[in-house]
Amino acid sequence: MTRKVAILGATGTVGQRFIQLLNGHPWFEVTVLAASERSAGKKYRDACNWRLESEMPEEIGEITVVNTDLKSVDAAGDVDLVFSALPGSLAGPIEEEFAAKYPVISKASAHRLDEDVPLLIPEVNPEHLDMIQIQRERRGWEGFISNDPNCSTIQLAISLKPLMEFGLRRVIVTTMQALSGAGYPGVASLDIIDNVIPYISKEEEKLEVETKKILGTFDGSKVKPAPIVLSASCNRVNVKDGHLEAVHVELEENPDVEEVKEAFRKFRGAPQKLKLPSAPEEPIIVREEVDRPQPRYDRDAGNGMSIVIGRVRRDPALTIKYLCLGHNTIRGAAGAGILSAELMVAKGII
Ligand SMILES: NC(=O)c1ccc[n+]([C@@H]2O[C@H](COP(=O)([O-])OP(=O)(O)OC[C@H]3O[C@@H](n4cnc5c(N)ncnc54)[C@H](OP(=O)(O)O)[C@@H]3O)[C@@H](O)[C@H]2O)c1
Repeated sequence: MTRKVAILGATGTVGQRFIQLLNGHPWFEVTVLAASERSAGKKYRDACNWRLESEMPEEIGEITVVNTDLKSVDAAGDVDLVFSALPGSLAGPIEEEFAAKYPVISKASAHRLDEDVPLLIPEVNPEHLDMIQIQRERRGWEGFISNDPNCSTIQLAISLKPLMEFGLRRVIVTTMQALSGAGYPGVASLDIIDNVIPYISKEEEKLEVETKKILGTFDGSKVKPAPIVLSASCNRVNVKDGHLEAVHVELEENPDVEEVKEAFRKFRGAPQKLKLPSAPEEPIIVREEVDRPQPRYDRDAGNGMSIVIGRVRRDPALTIKYLCLGHNTIRGAAGAGILSAELMVAKGII
């Protein structure tokens, strides 16, 4: 059965990726597109500043964009689930309005830390989906909200999950984050050409807090955050797509570098076992070259859904250090949302 999809924030950087990745999807069909009142009433092709290399799907361009309220979306077409790619500052009440009726899978930050909202990475914490039942009972909703983490957090948490078996204690991460992570038009060209900006608003806090929730234990009523210490420094760099992160970890055990690489390589999760349509065969690809991963060459690995790790080596200060790369608008955003929805379909939640 094909599920019909509405996208909130459909004209933005993440909204466009949703449309690109859902084109021809075996389980989902885009029926309703919603954005701000600047776009509402226009055909998608006129409302949207399409910024992807592939062409906008012909029939999507003909859809009339509507406002991001339940009444307008309901009037525009049939909907079984909603992807939200709204700005975090606006998403809170809008997503709640939709969750009363529909499953909402959100890319925005508004509900990520709510006690009854899963912060889901399908390979890492699929058991957190059990929170949905608690959420529905508590809030009296027919639908629900499930959140995807922040883009830089997703790739970090995937890389940390296999290290939990060695007793993960402390993590220091320095990010080099792509321009598309700031949405469109994002950072002014005169601010970023020939430059690195050593600050991204609220990003360090998101990495530090979200990662502990994702790697935490769900005890049947709430998540107990993972007992790890994280310290993040976030930088915006002059790269279009693909966040690169330098990660240093302290482990209780003292595995050698080859054991750590093996743990990364053999890591698989529910999406791989269930053979979900968007699941990469290898969630983590380990490269041996001294100068990889690089955003330009590695961001599209596994159709943008694999993270690429390289330069795994001993850390004289902690235990192990490595570089980790992920495509921020695919694995970090729209691809993550679609994989979450696929897992929910496979588990009978949608
Ligand atoms: N970019 C990334 O790599 C990334 C990764 C992970 C998570 N996220 C999160 O995903 C969300 C979307 O990010 P983005 O990069 O796609 O941002 P964006 O390019 O700025 O797009 C924002 C979208 O929201 C709509 N919008 C803006 N103001 C609105 C309003 N008042 N009412 C209704 N809709 C409104 C815009 O519609 P109009 O075109 O009509 O203005 C547009 O469709 C954010 O919460 C962001 O933090 C982004």
